[in-house]
Amino acid sequence: MILRLAIEARRAAASKLKLVGSAGAGRWLSTAVDGSGSLEGKIALITGGASGLGKATAHEFIQEGASVVLADINSQLGLQTAEELGPHAHFIHCDVAVEDSVAGAVDAAVARHGRLDVMFNSAGVAGSLSGTSEMASLDLGQFDSVMRVNVRGTLAGIKHATRVMAPACSGSILCMGSISGLMGGLGSYPYSASKLAIAGVVRTAAAELARHGVRVNCISPHAIATPMVVRQFAEMLGGADEATVASIVAGLGQLKGATCEAVDVARAAVYLASDDAKYVSGHNLVVDGGFTTYKYMDLPFPTPQE
Ligand SMILES: NC(=O)c1ccc[n+]([C@@H]2O[C@H](COP(=O)([O-])OP(=O)(O)OC[C@H]3O[C@@H](n4cnc5c(N)ncnc54)[C@H](O)[C@@H]3O)[C@@H](O)[C@H]2O)c1
Repeated sequence: MILRLAIEARRAAASKLKLVGSAGAGRWLSTAVDGSGSLEGKIALITGGASGLGKATAHEFIQEGASVVLADINSQLGLQTAEELGPHAHFIHCDVAVEDSVAGAVDAAVARHGRLDVMFNSAGVAGSLSGTSEMASLDLGQFDSVMRVNVRGTLAGIKHATRVMAPACSGSILCMGSISGLMGGLGSYPYSASKLAIAGVVRTAAAELARHGVRVNCISPHAIATPMVVRQFAEMLGGADEATVASIVAGLGQLKGATCEAVDVARAAVYLASDDAKYVSGHNLVVDGGFTTYKYMDLPFPTPQE
């Protein structure tokens, strides 16, 4: 009986879903459209919201009933994205590497909407591959510039979101990690170290902020062909175009029958931002189809699928 009810509930929920469109990083626009969203009335600030995973998340948040402030260093793209996303999206220029700029974005969100419920620190850079992949010739200047945006920028986001969320004794802070922060060999030294640091910062902040009723979580996605990844693969492969990179990246996953898309990250963010996750904090939600959970031994036995 319970199983039947669950199936019917799922069917009813599925009938409210609507595929709205697609983007370079795959299908990303699907969700409830009837005012019954899981983020109804919430106010979210998304750094790096002009593009890629931040943009896809902004769209899903809005579909779930939230109002979103996109904070990005790219004003031209940010304004274009806000217009594309409609009246529940607003753009503000922000460089996460500059603390006052992050503080200003948080203050602008509060001035506009009266409070802040969700802060998603998604802004990030991959940095150059040159001088960052071999220890003996590591360019520490490159290391500093990636850490400044990815780690310091995330810390500034947590700090200033806390400033307004802790007095309200409520809020959900999300930070963007990566599978490169979970396993060696997947990214350059600066990028991997930055993403490992972000997962660590999330744990330490969750420990303190629990006392203030604020949840802090991390999302660690597999590779997805966003503009950042397309640029990086083009550098690696000597100018591959978006379609080529998308097909290479799609082939990197291990989960049969599915590829990692921006919408998968956006839906993970919706869950962590929503009251469905009201008791989830300090967690690193890995969106990788199981990729980082195993490694087969190189034994002369048939692999399980043979
Ligand atoms: N695409 C992937 O495969 C993947 C996988 C794991 C993690 N990530 C992470 O996801 C996040 C988003 O990346 P994406 O793939 O959507 O790339 P993207 O390039 O499409 O988006 C990144 C956004 O961050 C903005 N940004 C960069 N520096 C900034 C700064 N100093 N201040 C404010 N905004 C800034 C950019 O303008 C851009 O809009 C990053 O933290 C990235 O490391 C991406």
